[in-house]
Amino acid sequence: MVDASVNQWLTIAGPVCKDDRVVPVEHDLHPETAVRLRPLGVDDEHAVRTAQLSMAREGFEFAFGLTDETDWPSYVTELSHRQFGIDLPPGSVPASFLAAVSDGVVVGRSSIRHRLNDELRIVGEHVGYCVLPQFRRQGFATEICRQSVIIARAFGVDGVLLTCDADNVASKTVIERCGGILDSDWPLTGTAPSKYRYWIK
Ligand SMILES: CC(C)(COP(=O)(O)OP(=O)(O)OC[C@H]1O[C@@H](n2cnc3c(N)ncnc32)[C@H](O)[C@@H]1OP(=O)(O)O)[C@@H](O)C(=O)NCCC(=O)NCCS
Repeated sequence: MVDASVNQWLTIAGPVCKDDRVVPVEHDLHPETAVRLRPLGVDDEHAVRTAQLSMAREGFEFAFGLTDETDWPSYVTELSHRQFGIDLPPGSVPASFLAAVSDGVVVGRSSIRHRLNDELRIVGEHVGYCVLPQFRRQGFATEICRQSVIIARAFGVDGVLLTCDADNVASKTVIERCGGILDSDWPLTGTAPSKYRYWIK
C-alpha cells in the first residue's frame, strides 16, 4: 500500500509503473496553480500586447522593448535567438523569455538569464517575473518562480540571483517561499536598500 504522500509525489512526477504497465497520471495536483512556462509563439501576439498594456499601467514592462510598431514575428524570432545566444546585442547574455500559461491563458511571464556578466551581477538578476493583475493571489508567481529556478539550474546556474523593490511585499514573499536568502553583503554602500537581493542556492 502506498501512503498518501508517496501518491502525491507520483502524481507530480508523471507516468508511473503500475502492474508492469506505464499509466499516465494527472498532473493537476493543485489545479489553481497549474502553470506552464513556454516560449512565445506567433499566436501569442494579442495576449502579449494586451498584457503589455495592462502591466504598463503599473509601470512594469511585460515584454521587453515591445512597442506598437514592433513586428511580432520578428520579435518572436529575436527572443528565440536570444535564448540560443545568437546575435546577442553587446552587453546582453543568453536568456529565456517564457510565457506563463494556465489553462491555455497567458497569466504572466518569466525572464531567465542563463548567466550574468559583471554588470548584471551588481545591478541585475537571473530571474524576473510578473503575473497579470486579474490572476494574482492564486499562487501563480510562486509557481513561476519555482519553475524558473529549476530552468536556470538546467542552464548551469548554481546560485540564482533575484531582486525586488524593498517595498514589494508580494515579490519578497514569493522569493522567500522559493527559498531565497537575503544577501547580507548588499548594498555595499551602507545606505538603506531600495532593492533587496536574494540568492536561491
Ligand atoms: C509580485 C507578483 C508577481 C505576485 O504575483 P502573485 O501571483 O499574486 O503571487 P502569489 O499568488 O504567488 O503570492 C504569494 C504571496 O505573496 C503575498 N502577496 C501577494 N500579493 C500581495 C499583496 N498585494 N500584498 C501583500 N502580500 C501579497 C501573499 O502572502 C501571497 O500568498 P497568499 O496569497 O497565500 O497569502 C505580482 O503582484 C506582480 O506581477 N507584480 C508586478 C510585477 C512585479 O512586482 N514583479 C516582481 C518583480 S521583482
